[in-house]
Order: sequence, then C-alpha cells, then structure tokens
Amino acid sequence: MKRIMLTGALGQIGSEITIKLREMYGNDAVLATDIREDLSLAAQGGPFRALDVTDGQAFHEAASAHRADAIIHLAALLSATAEAKPMLAWQLNMGGLLNALETARELDCQIFAPSSIAAFGPDAPRRGTPQDAPLRPETMYGISKAAGEQLCDYYYRKFAVDARGLRFPGLISHAAPPGGGTTDYAVEMYVHAEGSGHYTSYIGKGTFLDMMYMPDAIAAVAQLMEADASRLKRRTAYNVTAMSVDPEAISASIRRRLPDFTLRYEIDPLRQSIADGWPDAIDSSAASEEWDFRPAYDLDRTTDEMLESLARKRLCGEKGAILL
Ligand SMILES: NC(=O)c1ccc[n+]([C@@H]2O[C@H](COP(=O)([O-])OP(=O)(O)OC[C@H]3O[C@@H](n4cnc5c(N)ncnc54)[C@H](O)[C@@H]3O)[C@@H](O)[C@H]2O)c1
Repeated sequence: MKRIMLTGALGQIGSEITIKLREMYGNDAVLATDIREDLSLAAQGGPFRALDVTDGQAFHEAASAHRADAIIHLAALLSATAEAKPMLAWQLNMGGLLNALETARELDCQIFAPSSIAAFGPDAPRRGTPQDAPLRPETMYGISKAAGEQLCDYYYRKFAVDARGLRFPGLISHAAPPGGGTTDYAVEMYVHAEGSGHYTSYIGKGTFLDMMYMPDAIAAVAQLMEADASRLKRRTAYNVTAMSVDPEAISASIRRRLPDFTLRYEIDPLRQSIADGWPDAIDSSAASEEWDFRPAYDLDRTTDEMLESLARKRLCGEKGAILL
C-alpha cells in the first residue's frame, strides 16, 4: 500500500484508521471519502472527498484521481440497522462492494473489505468457531457479509484482484460512535460508566460475543494488507478476535476502577435475537499462523484505556468525544 483511498471513512473504524494510515503512509497519500462530511480530523486533517459508494462511476473517478493503489472499503450498513432496512442493506453492502471490486480490477488496486462474525449463523459451532465453519447466516447483514466474502474470493480467482479481509468481532472504541451494530452495547457501557455511573444493557446476561479494541483492529488491517501473499492460504475473511465477553464480564472489569458502577437489563428483542445467532468465541488461529495476528489488548487493558480516554475527553471538553 502506498496511496490509499478509504470509503465510509467517517464511521467508527474509518475515523480512527484514516488518522493512523496518514501517520504511517503520509498525509497526502490517504484519501478519506464518505457520503457525509463532518468536522472530525479524518475529514478535515487531510484529503477528503464526498463519495456515495453505490455510484460506480464516481467510485472509479475518485480512486483514479487519487492514483490509489489500495482501497479500504468500509461503507456499509451494520447489523441492527440492516435488519431494520434489509433492502437498503443489500443495495449498499453488495452494490458498494461490487463497485469497490470493479474499481480495484480496473485500476489494479489492492482492496480490503471487512466481513464480520455475523457471517456465521446458528449452525456454526458456538465456541472455537473454526475458520472454515459453514456460513448459514439468518440476518440480512450476515447474508451480505457471507456473500461479500465469496464475491471477494471470486474477484481474486477470476481477475487476480488482491482482495483481503477480516471477520471483525464487535469493535470497542472511543473516537466515533458505533454505527448501529449489535455489539454497540459494549461501547455504550463504557461511556455511561464514565458519565452517569449506570448502564441499562439491551443485550442479556450470559450472551457471550467476540470483541476487540480498535487499535488491535487497525493494526490487523495494516498487517494483513502488508502480509507476504505467499504465506496466505486464503484471501478474505480471516477470523480475528481478542476476547469473548458478556455484559457481566465488561461490568466486572469496569468495577475494578469504578466500584459504584451499576448495570441493569432491558432486553431489545431484535438485537438479542441477532446476538443469539452469532458465535460465542471464534478461533483466530489461521490469522496467527498465516500473518502473525496477535492482539495486544485483553478486556482489562481495553477497559483501562477506554475509561481513561473518555475521562480525559470529558474533562478537556475535547472535540470528538462520543456522546451516546
Ligand atoms: N464496528 C464494528 O464493530 C464492526 C464489526 C464487524 C464488521 N464491521 C464492518 O466494518 C465496516 C465499517 O464499519 P463501521 O463500524 O466503521 O461502520 P459505521 O456505520 O460506523 O460507518 C459506516 C460509514 O459509511 C458511511 N456510508 C453510509 N452509506 C454510504 C454510502 N452510500 N456511500 C459512502 N459512505 C456511506 C456512513 O456515513 C459511515 O460514516 C463495515 O463493513 C462493517 O460491516 C464493523
């Protein structure tokens, strides 16, 4: 990767990875794009262009004008929003990905397209979910992610497009609010713990899901994109995870630092049913073996950094602090 174009660059992942990639590859080498614009560092701190990824011609023009050799394609509708708007989810998640892959083929770009633990369905083994477990998702988001993985594999086999991808777990971060996923509760719990000292979870006690802290997710993207292709036995959709947690585990970790924090439950049937169809804990050994994936943050280290960062932002009134 030398000249990178990101889509969906103002979302939860994009707003942090854009800044990190600019540090790594140079400010002007990293073009951020999104359908909207805001005052964040990702939009204002370097090249930015408005782009709707469902417009294939505009996608091609933006990548061509930037002379991109890599596309990080993040624009998508996330799990809970996708379940509420399934037609839009299919159009954006599949139409946008197809435009990204076509642009990569036409301009000979490397491409990163994230999948999700949502690609697995209730048939997959719940614990130690293997890399190659069957994909029978029951949500529109999961279906778009499973199909997207196969579309990326197709472009690699058919057109030799260097498409790579990860199955992200729920991502925990403090720079931008999460975008309507099922695991958003984890981020919300930290924000409320640091603010009011109390949180009401829409996901039930004992619902274990994989999670990862954003710096590990960003490092994994950069590492996979730079990995020696000869070591990769597969291209897309590597399982990655750092922890398997339920709301009680996060709450206990928070209480080490904020002993008065209280957690109660008010289950949201939609998001609970989505979570019930996902694995408890996936196996990320293929990523470790093939490109040395090693997450640095366990739950307690994530908690420490989240609470410290949120407290600092609140005290400084820092721009970019998330409000939920
Ligand atoms: N955040 C997670 O926990 C997580 C977990 C698994 C997979 N993923 C995947 O990672 C990717 C990025 O996720 P995120 O959490 O940053 O999402 P997000 O919802 O926070 O951000 C998505 C961005 O896409 C933009 N967007 C929406 N429609 C667009 C369009 N038509 N054209 C261009 N931009 C558009 C939005 O404005 C937003 O800034 C997605 O593919 C998602 O499925 C995320």
